[in-house]
Amino acid sequence: MDTIHVGLIGLGTVGSGVYTLLRRHKSELEFQVGHTIQIDKILVSSLNKARVIDGEEVSSKLLTTNFDDILGNALIQIVIEVMGGETLAKEYIEKLLQAGKTVITANKDVLAKYGVELNALAVKNQCDLFYEASVGGGIPIIRSLVEGLASDKIMRIMGIVNGTTNYILTKMSNEDMDYSVALKLAQDLGFAEPDPTGDVEGLDAARKMVILSSLGFSMPITLEDVYTHGISQVSIVDIQFAKTLGYVIKLIGFSQILDGEVEVSVQPTFLPKEHPLASVNNENNAVYLCGEAVGQTMFFGPGAGSLPTATSIVSDLITSIKRLQLGIRGSHLVSFKHERRIKSENKIMAKFYLRLTVEDKVGVLNQITSIFAKEELSFESVVQKPTKNPDDAQLIIITHEVVLSNYLRALRQLKQLDHIKHIDSSYRVVSNG
Ligand SMILES: NC(=O)c1ccc[n+]([C@@H]2O[C@H](COP(=O)([O-])OP(=O)(O)OC[C@H]3O[C@@H](n4cnc5c(N)ncnc54)[C@H](OP(=O)(O)O)[C@@H]3O)[C@@H](O)[C@H]2O)c1
Repeated sequence: MDTIHVGLIGLGTVGSGVYTLLRRHKSELEFQVGHTIQIDKILVSSLNKARVIDGEEVSSKLLTTNFDDILGNALIQIVIEVMGGETLAKEYIEKLLQAGKTVITANKDVLAKYGVELNALAVKNQCDLFYEASVGGGIPIIRSLVEGLASDKIMRIMGIVNGTTNYILTKMSNEDMDYSVALKLAQDLGFAEPDPTGDVEGLDAARKMVILSSLGFSMPITLEDVYTHGISQVSIVDIQFAKTLGYVIKLIGFSQILDGEVEVSVQPTFLPKEHPLASVNNENNAVYLCGEAVGQTMFFGPGAGSLPTATSIVSDLITSIKRLQLGIRGSHLVSFKHERRIKSENKIMAKFYLRLTVEDKVGVLNQITSIFAKEELSFESVVQKPTKNPDDAQLIIITHEVVLSNYLRALRQLKQLDHIKHIDSSYRVVSNG
């Protein structure tokens, strides 16, 4: 059996998983590709760490801190990048592709920003770039989107693609925990980083939605196209109102194409309790797709973790090896059929939940109604609740499907009304189907 020589960049959480999986599933993997798979070199940042993986010490001969040991090794045709970060990782991927090596990466930061450019570089240099693990950890969503549903037209993609925020919202919803308590718990359990900003403010999910939407709609979507709003302002009050009204609040990545134009957002969203994504809890991820022909499908699983993420990477490795054998590298997942067309706010239709604290006086509701009427917004329901202050009341409004720009204009006008104390919250509401 010939040997396929592989380079590994990074031996942390994911790198160790890849190392373990290649050992544990060695015979099955080699049976599938008809070759021995061998890691020749592993790039790490420190040679002084103890490296015991899956009960065995990693040979020091494998480890290096010199990238050129991988780049310059002519035997290595496939490199797995699981180092993370943006600038250096991009530079390494670029150099590897320029050298004609296939690259497999889990790096959504690099992919969301430079995916188009790097894919083109892979084609130019007759090699491949694979990134299944960059979205949804162990869920084979990219392959499903690009290959499994290649026969269909994707109309809508909705995802719970960030485990940290889903864990926090689940705790808030199921155990009435405040945001800060749930975040601390997530940090203690290792589900959230010491600096959780990228996760809780929605950036991580936005990057994944860039990758999914670009592939799903065959259009080069950028991070700037994603309306991004995180969960740090979600209050337990809204979570409870959501429950009363038959909804749950989830951080939803939402993208859809209509008349050739795409809208993409990541925001805390009211989902009906019956929606398939509503029961995706804790750190789990799921991606729900609507295709013109297939209808609705959903992919559920662990969005992170050492071995789950490694399964995606090693599956990419198998595909890479097969393509190497067939001599068809450099033709994968690369070109977009459509030019980038993003839907403007005056064409986006959506339902909203709005919570206001108002002075409890005759005529206030009339003022609100007249602003809504002027902006052609209609109510699905309005509920009034008492507040601790007997002079005030809370209004909870759910709109019908309305034009986003009109809704935003109405919010600006509501802020000017003397009798409105504050606009407490506003969330998008998604319907079933
Ligand atoms: N963790 C997950 O569950 C998960 C899931 C999906 C995708 N990802 C993505 O996978 C990638 C890796 O994540 P991870 O959690 O495995 O990271 P990690 O645990 O922090 O491991 C990073 C590894 O890269 C090495 N490294 C870091 N900077 C380096 C440098 N400048 N030069 C050489 N080596 C360097 C580190 O070396 P030392 O060992 O010497 O420190 C370490 O082995 C990221 O892009 C992440 O977004 C992670």
